[in-house]
Amino acid sequence: MTIRLELRRAGESDLSLLEDLTQDPDVTGEFQWFGWNDLRRWRRGWQENGLIGPDGGTLLVVSGDDRLGLVNWRRRPTTPAAFCWEIGVIMAPQARGRGHGTQAHRLLASYLFAHSTAHRIEAATDVENIAEQRALAKAGFAREGVLRGIGWRDGAWRDGVGYSLLRTDPL
Ligand SMILES: CC(C)(COP(=O)(O)OP(=O)(O)OC[C@H]1O[C@@H](n2cnc3c(N)ncnc32)[C@H](O)[C@@H]1OP(=O)(O)O)[C@@H](O)C(=O)NCCC(=O)NCCS
Repeated sequence: MTIRLELRRAGESDLSLLEDLTQDPDVTGEFQWFGWNDLRRWRRGWQENGLIGPDGGTLLVVSGDDRLGLVNWRRRPTTPAAFCWEIGVIMAPQARGRGHGTQAHRLLASYLFAHSTAHRIEAATDVENIAEQRALAKAGFAREGVLRGIGWRDGAWRDGVGYSLLRTDPL
């Protein structure tokens, strides 16, 4: 049975979870582990704007009181008149492989199309990250192609895969 997930704002008590999801190699998963980096950024960001601003944000993925992961988005200007959102999703290890990541992508896309005028949402992932690619495809994102040597991770340059969802695509 698919449980109903929601997105909610992060509170101060959620910051340690956000740190674990992004700074603990046992939690991030191999494709999100880039070494420790800017360890205070969640606390600084929360003090600054509660992790929601005009150029991006982070929300928790929850089911009732259970905190299952995070979604985030970042504004990327595409032409002088336009921008798109780049998104990312990290589910907690115990929440993976149950359809929640797919649902989280859908929820975030609906949220961003409802509350901004953006026409395009994009996401990229490691070419070996099959779970993310399947989750994006199942959430309605179209595969656009391979991004050669785009990311440095764990001692090597890695190929990525780009995906997008347009406001006019069927959800
Ligand atoms: C990537 C991620 C968000 C996907 O969410 P999820 O809840 O695990 O995925 P879902 O349960 O929605 O499954 C989506 C699809 O991926 C498949 N899948 C899940 N885990 C998999 C794995 N380890 N290997 C291969 N396929 C996998 C599922 O079978 C499903 O496909 P199917 O319906 O065709 O069988 C989640 O695994 C995660 O947070 N991973 C660690 C962080 C990360 O890599 N984030 C992406 C950064 S770009």
